[in-house]
Amino acid sequence: LEEALHGRSLVIASNRGPIAFEKDAGGGFVARRGAGGLVTALSHIMSYTPGRWVASAMTAADREMVGTGMGRQDVDLGDMRLGIRYLAFDRRRFDAYYNGISNGVLWFLQHSLWNPARGPRFDRSTREAWAAYHEVNQGFAETIAEEIAEAGAPAMLHDYHLMLVAGYLRKFSPDAFIYHFTHSPWTTPEGMRMLPGRMAQELLEGMLSNDLLGFQTSRWSQNFMWCCQNLLGARIDMESGVVAHQSQETVVRHYPISIDAEAVKKIAHSPEGEEHLEWLRRVVGDRKLILRVDRLELSKNILRGFRAYEEFLKSSPEWLGKVIHVALLYPSRRALSEYRSYEADVLDMHDRINADLGTDDWQPVVLVNEDNYTRALACLRRYDVLLVNPIIDGMNLVSKEGPAVNEVDGVVVLSRNAGSWQELAHGVIGVNPYDIAEMSEALEEALTMDAESKAARARALREVVEHNNPTKWVWHQLRDIRRLN
Ligand code: F6P
Repeated sequence: LEEALHGRSLVIASNRGPIAFEKDAGGGFVARRGAGGLVTALSHIMSYTPGRWVASAMTAADREMVGTGMGRQDVDLGDMRLGIRYLAFDRRRFDAYYNGISNGVLWFLQHSLWNPARGPRFDRSTREAWAAYHEVNQGFAETIAEEIAEAGAPAMLHDYHLMLVAGYLRKFSPDAFIYHFTHSPWTTPEGMRMLPGRMAQELLEGMLSNDLLGFQTSRWSQNFMWCCQNLLGARIDMESGVVAHQSQETVVRHYPISIDAEAVKKIAHSPEGEEHLEWLRRVVGDRKLILRVDRLELSKNILRGFRAYEEFLKSSPEWLGKVIHVALLYPSRRALSEYRSYEADVLDMHDRINADLGTDDWQPVVLVNEDNYTRALACLRRYDVLLVNPIIDGMNLVSKEGPAVNEVDGVVVLSRNAGSWQELAHGVIGVNPYDIAEMSEALEEALTMDAESKAARARALREVVEHNNPTKWVWHQLRDIRRLN
């Protein structure tokens, strides 16, 4: 990373920052580092540079801390120091930007989650929320402009919350090098045409104000380029990955994010992990285990996953009582009514399947609804089948964490719409996430696969996952930033 940074600093911006603050009993602020590969990888870079991470104040304690003038500080995390700058926006404006547009419109758009006969409903409130999205993105740009001026650094922006930042930042810092990475998928031109007013054009033009754009896979970067051609009339060169629009040229690349296999194994084998694994052993007994680990999120396709399991049990009754489906889910975005009703439907279907098919000594589905990363990683050590069937997913890290820690040559059933499909296809059973019958057959195929094929697939997946890590992911991006800057 030091080599890729070449003595330069870096300013990172994302809606959710790497640290969440909490208040302790004495009224002091306690910093907690977020979990997951992205925060780990990017925090790691920050320990090599005097750069800064700009983000929204998300928790009440974050906001309070900003209110006391501590929004810009260096946080000592024991193993590293991290320069942060947190922004507290007006509460209503932030809600409109975060829940109204980012989660309520852009997330649904990029994951093709609308059912056009019934939704979305774009009305006056959407226009107001869109204005708030502009304002928050402008607020980010103003702060980033200050930080890059001070640090003499390029800006690295993250995700669908900040798609207009580059357009504003260009005005404040015309010579800045601006890079944006999208973690979610990118939709098709037909998807973007659903957006009201000039929203689609403004989003695309905002994105094209960057010098470099990164996506998880070529599938999403190509969609983005097609959108630019179709909706803006931009000139695109798919081969070399360049979009030319008005006087601006933007380079488009893909950088598949990965996991740190060693770090993930360490958590899975920690004393707390061992306790969770013991819990799982008691739950599973001598049955086969079909596991899923997901945020309780519409794009994860949990309902069709349950239906596929039910169909499998009904069509292959010899498996009744001999297999168990453990769903480790964790709550998400309960501020949105779509998420609350999806969660209720998932819990309801779990109850119904257990009532229909369960017996006195067998519960077909065991559902845990709790955010517990250590439990998830520990349980991944033991799956016979890992079901990862998102409707669509930018990457999907569970499909990489599973093969990294699994110890029993478990088989992965993977949606062809997960970004990770491009890297893992040769070692998984691929499924169409809309096809319940195909997913049900895939579960049976996975459960009955011979030991040699299972071992060969598990080995193939491990090789892919261990070959990469978050530091390499960041390194490739920094190398391109350096080449183009
Ligand atoms: O984990 C993937 C992701 O969907 C990212 O694409 C996104 O930045 C993040 O989650 C947003 O989650 P939240 O709304 O909880 O901050």
